[in-house]
Amino acid sequence: MTDPSPVFSDQLEASLAHAFEILVSAASDRRAAMHTPSIATIGLDGSPRSRTVVLRHFGPDDRSFRFHTDIRSEKYQELQRDPRISALFYDVGEKIQLRLNGEATLHVTDRIADEAWSASQAMSRHCYATEPAPGSFILEGADFTIPKGRELTDAGRHHFCAVRMHFNRLEWLWLGSEGHRRAIFEWPAVTSAPEMRWLVP
Ligand SMILES: Cc1cc2nc3c(=O)[nH]c(=O)nc-3n(C[C@H](O)[C@H](O)[C@H](O)COP(=O)(O)O)c2cc1C
Repeated sequence: MTDPSPVFSDQLEASLAHAFEILVSAASDRRAAMHTPSIATIGLDGSPRSRTVVLRHFGPDDRSFRFHTDIRSEKYQELQRDPRISALFYDVGEKIQLRLNGEATLHVTDRIADEAWSASQAMSRHCYATEPAPGSFILEGADFTIPKGRELTDAGRHHFCAVRMHFNRLEWLWLGSEGHRRAIFEWPAVTSAPEMRWLVP
């Protein structure tokens, strides 16, 4: 017997609601598949660049999510030059892929950054005090320093950036055993309801 089709299988609204539910819970569950999305930016030379980050918060109401990075990283420089960003999530258990597109805002000295820093654990904070800068060439693999231990420190605070991605496009792909479903959700203006359409998977 195959599993009954989930409620979202043939309903656009339910598909979007399910996508938001998974993302909200993935932000607070380090074991969730969607806790570590892949983030793509436009490289300084125009080539595509992608990397894994940790999903720190997802806000369905303002269609945004947050991750943290070091202002010395390439992605920070890339986003400063061109805020366009894409995020890729895949949950192997749910068989759902989500592709989000939008723009990033960078928060280094404001309240958003301060609150994110205050909520960070010692281990996460220590990474921002790494010397030399992430991405520097070094002669041996261990030629860098990073504070150790469980002590909270502000040593790396000036390198810390909270990145908020606001998305206006979400593409849904569900690999259902009785047939796949693909849909696109687009928000043409900040407050508007999404335009929803099915696509051939
Ligand atoms: C599971 C995992 C989680 C990661 N989380 C982050 C993160 O939240 N922020 C970050 O800047 N880098 C994170 N990284 C490292 C990035 O993938 C990347 O290697 C690094 O940030 C340099 O990227 P860039 O040179 O494009 O800036 C993570 C890597 C892995 C494997």
